[in-house]
Amino acid sequence: MKTYRIGVIPGDGIGPEVVREGLKVLGAVATVEGFALDLTEYPYSGAHYLETGELVPPQVIDEWRQLDAIYLGAIGHPDVEPGLVERSVILGLRFGLDLYINLRPIRLYAEHLCPLKGKTPADVDLVVVRENTEGMYTQIGGIFKKGTADEIAVVEGLYTRKGTERAIRYAFELARRRAAQRGSAGRPARVTMVDKANAIRPQDIWTRTFAEVGAEYPDVEQEHAYVDAACMWLVKNPEWFDVVVTANLFGDILTDLGAAIQGGMGIAASGNIHPGKTSMFEPIHGSAPKYAGRNVACPLGAIAAAAMMLETLGETVAAARIERAIERLLTSGRIPSVDAHSGLSTSCVGDMVTEEVLKTEVLAI
Ligand code: IPM
Ligand code: MG
Repeated sequence: MKTYRIGVIPGDGIGPEVVREGLKVLGAVATVEGFALDLTEYPYSGAHYLETGELVPPQVIDEWRQLDAIYLGAIGHPDVEPGLVERSVILGLRFGLDLYINLRPIRLYAEHLCPLKGKTPADVDLVVVRENTEGMYTQIGGIFKKGTADEIAVVEGLYTRKGTERAIRYAFELARRRAAQRGSAGRPARVTMVDKANAIRPQDIWTRTFAEVGAEYPDVEQEHAYVDAACMWLVKNPEWFDVVVTANLFGDILTDLGAAIQGGMGIAASGNIHPGKTSMFEPIHGSAPKYAGRNVACPLGAIAAAAMMLETLGETVAAARIERAIERLLTSGRIPSVDAHSGLSTSCVGDMVTEEVLKTEVLAI
């Protein structure tokens, strides 16, 4: 039997609660699809740092490279300096494992979840390909004369040809795959590149690389939007988008907006991917300390992230089972909302998805 070695980082706040439900669902699909999961849990989190002073040691990053995938809940603790543990765990993984794609599907599973007037699941079905190792996130920069009247803060935005090109190429390949899945009756493949090259001229590297790589994909429609306009279009005409490719920080911002139009942070999932190597999967929400330990957080984002993990590992039927189960539970209203106020506990939602993935008719996609 195929066995996947998965590193599990439950993390802080609601992280352990939603990861527990994700693992429950994973266990169920593994049994029915005939594969096994060999789980190794890692304690790194804000809470662990407060207890032990420990962040992620370098040798653990090396250990992670040997795994098939990593599943993460959420990192962030109110008593720890902002960003310290996030940089160690989340950015440590992204940079350490060179997870250069942050893949964020924005899919409306059920019309009633959408805050936009008159938009249906057919209108909100896009994927953001966020460059995940460069831009404003590289930690290049610093603060000089801190706390004085002459204080200077510098942060560099870094874009390499290699980093830009591999993100753009991934987006084109993804657009082709999505169009092939939709079939000839579906809408054609389209990639929209989002930047701010009018104000930030060095982002012209994105403009030129997009044009050069795009020439190899004449079958894919190619559009461009400045990031401010892209925010506006995402609210006004989300159906305009298929695959979006953008720099790290813009992708971070656009995908919280994206989560809102797909129903909320409780349903949004992401994959931090290096194709062919160990990748990391997480819900896009944070640790939500105010809901921690109350068994009320929505685990669907974490469960959908587990489905993305299986898809990337090649377990496409298992992944489809989970996706379909989530869709059925939401469209039927059995799970009425994707926030902490659905009236259903975290563990109850996990149980419902677990039960639903086992139903054979789930395969009738
Ligand atoms: C995300 C988060 C992270 C990011 C934080 C926690 C560092 O907001 O995954 O979107 O900015 O990338
Ligand atoms: Mg974010």
